[in-house]
This record gives sequence, C-alpha cells and structure tokens, in this order.
Amino acid sequence: MERQSGGGLGAVQRLGAPLSQAKLRIDGIAKRYGPVVALEPVSLEVRTGELMTILGPSGSGKTTLLQVICGLVEPDGGRLFIDGHDRTAMPVHQRDIGLVFQNYALFPHLTVGENIGFPLKMRGRPAAEVRERVAAALAMVQLGHLAARFPRELSGGQQQRVALARCFVYQPAIILMDEPLGALDRQLREHMQIEIKKLHRETGATIVYVTHDQEEALALSDRICLMNHARIEQVGTPQEIYAHPRTTFTASFIGTSTLLRGVVEGDALVTPLGRFALPEGRLAGAAALVIRPEHLRLGAGENTIEGVVSETVYAGAETRLLFDLADGTTAVLRLPTGMAAPEIGTAVQAHWATDAAVLVPL
Ligand SMILES: Nc1ncnc2c1ncn2[C@@H]1O[C@H](COP(=O)(O)OP(=O)(O)OP(=O)(O)O)[C@@H](O)[C@H]1O
Ligand SMILES: [Mg+2]
Repeated sequence: MERQSGGGLGAVQRLGAPLSQAKLRIDGIAKRYGPVVALEPVSLEVRTGELMTILGPSGSGKTTLLQVICGLVEPDGGRLFIDGHDRTAMPVHQRDIGLVFQNYALFPHLTVGENIGFPLKMRGRPAAEVRERVAAALAMVQLGHLAARFPRELSGGQQQRVALARCFVYQPAIILMDEPLGALDRQLREHMQIEIKKLHRETGATIVYVTHDQEEALALSDRICLMNHARIEQVGTPQEIYAHPRTTFTASFIGTSTLLRGVVEGDALVTPLGRFALPEGRLAGAAALVIRPEHLRLGAGENTIEGVVSETVYAGAETRLLFDLADGTTAVLRLPTGMAAPEIGTAVQAHWATDAAVLVPL
C-alpha cells in the first residue's frame, strides 16, 4: 500500500524493485500474548539493500516484529517471505539473518576478539581471514585496544559495540538490529550511526533497524515504518513522513509541529481560534492542520494565529519560540537566525502559507 503513497520521492523510485523482489515481505503477521495484542495483523515490505527503521514508542510492537522476522517468535497468523519464499516456519538458524539485540548477549567465556570472530569460525573461514576481518571490525567500533578483554570487563556501551561488530563481520544478507546504540552516549551514537550507514552502503545488506529515537530514524533510514499500538501508522522515506504526515500521531512523533484542531467546512478548517484556509488533500469532518516550526513566521499574514510566548528553546543551530494559543494549544516556530526572541509573556502573532500546512484527520 505504501508504494502508492506520499509523493514517491526517495527509496521507492531509487531502488525501483518491483513487489516480487522484496527481500522481506511481511504479510498480515499478528501476535498476541494472552490478552495483550503485541501485533495487529501488519504487512510490510523491505526491499533488497534497503535500510528500514521500525520506529515507535515503547510497547508498540517493534521488538515483536523483529523477533517474528528472525524466527524467535512464532506469529499467530500471517506469513513471512524472504526472497519470495515462504519462510514463516523456517528455524532461526537456517535464515541468513544477523542479529543485534537490545540485550547484546555476548559469549562470556570468549574474549572480545573471539566473540567477533565466532561467526566466521563457525563458517569455517581460514584463520588469517578471521584475524584480518576481526581487526577491521574492531577498528570500526573503536575497540582495537580491548580485543583481549572478556565481556564482563567492558562497559555496557562497549559490549554493545562488540555485538555490532560481531554481526557485521560475517556479512549476512539481512541484518536485524534492535536499539543497537541504546547504551551509547550521544557522540559515540552519532559516530556509530555514520559507521552503520557506511557499512550498509558497502555491504549492500538489507537492514531492519528498531529505534524509538526519531532523530536516529530520520538520520539513518531509506524508509521509516512508524508503529503505534501494535499497528503500522505510516511507511515512507524520512522526507515523506516529515513533510506529509497522515495522522496527528505521525505529526507529533516525528519532528515538532503545531496542531490546530477543528472541523472542515467548505474550503476552511473551522477552529476555536478562527477559520483557516485548507491546503491540498481535502477531508471532511474533524481534522487538524499540522504546521512545522519552519513554516510559521512571526507577524500577521495569509493565516494568522495569536498567542503568548511561554518559552524559548535555544538549540545551537536554531532557536524555537513556544507560544500558547487561546484554546490551550502550544504553537512552535523557528525564529529567523539572528532575531532576538520576544520575552516570555509577550503577545505575538504568527502566520503561515496555506500550502505549507498539512491536513490530517482526527
Ligand atoms: N513475551 C511476552 N509476554 C507477554 N507480553 C509480551 C511479551 N513480549 C512482548 N509483550 C508485550 O507486547 C507488546 C509489544 O512489545 P514489544 O517488545 O514488541 O514492544 P517494543 O515496541 O519493542 O517496545 P520497547 O521500545 O519498549 O522495546 C507490549 O505490550 C509488551 O508488554
Ligand atoms: Mg523493544
């Protein structure tokens, strides 16, 4: 379904793989744990060589979906295809899938170097090749100096990097990663994100990457699959999802936005704050306008809202101004570079161009 959606920029056209060439096809996969629905029937395709992130809040079903793909969890219904073949019932070890999980499960009795070399040894690679590839993998995760240590002698973040190196070292066709950078500090995290992108480009592996961090998803992905309450909310390139959210959940989970709620009447959205012109994409009934901070400008214009400044947030490259509207909504705008922020408590007006907003159903 996502193939027709959202304007068609990016991965869909770039990779251009027809439906039949999907590396992974998840077809109506569902999973319950007793009364808990971990996955409603979900369907998703991951193309060969694509880096797809599964993004969503805690408990939305991300790990469950990954466990079904690798075979650790048996779904209640639905089917999983790898390279077009039904693999729903194939045992874990027969799927050519590498895993980096939330709990990175290293072998405690093997050193860091031996842990990373293990998948190669298992596959009978010659000792010289194992040495060489382990050294390269250690350098990639910046742990060359710790090759002789045991996992218990490492910090959580270091263990996580070993797990990452151990997965990439034998170059499986599909790599599944569940929050692989969760234990790392921001600087190391950003370094590893770039390394993962590089490895992805160089190896051509198909990667399914779970995260609850929207910035990480935007930075890494060819496409993002956004999940919420055991369902897929939206699938698309980072640009599509950011610029064309289809629900208020997507609009608020990815990036920041101002949401103006109301009811569609003719060519306007009627809200407690006034009537606003509708952008393209007509809807009927209850709906909201989504306006990104970079599309809201101070002063009156085509569509104007008024509020009282409640906060300014300085983030280095930009400053954001938060102001409260009469209906309790908080609006957010990006101040032009160099402009001094109005003081807290000041009344302000802001406007946007009609087509810069996105209309979503409520
Ligand atoms: N083995 C299990 N037994 C019972 N319930 C489970 C089990 N595994 C997962 N669940 C439940 O299924 C739902 C989805 O869990 P899942 O682990 O897939 O979420 P998640 O999106 O990975 O969350 P997080 O970001 O916190 O890791 C949750 O409500 C969770 O409590
Ligand atoms: Mg999880």
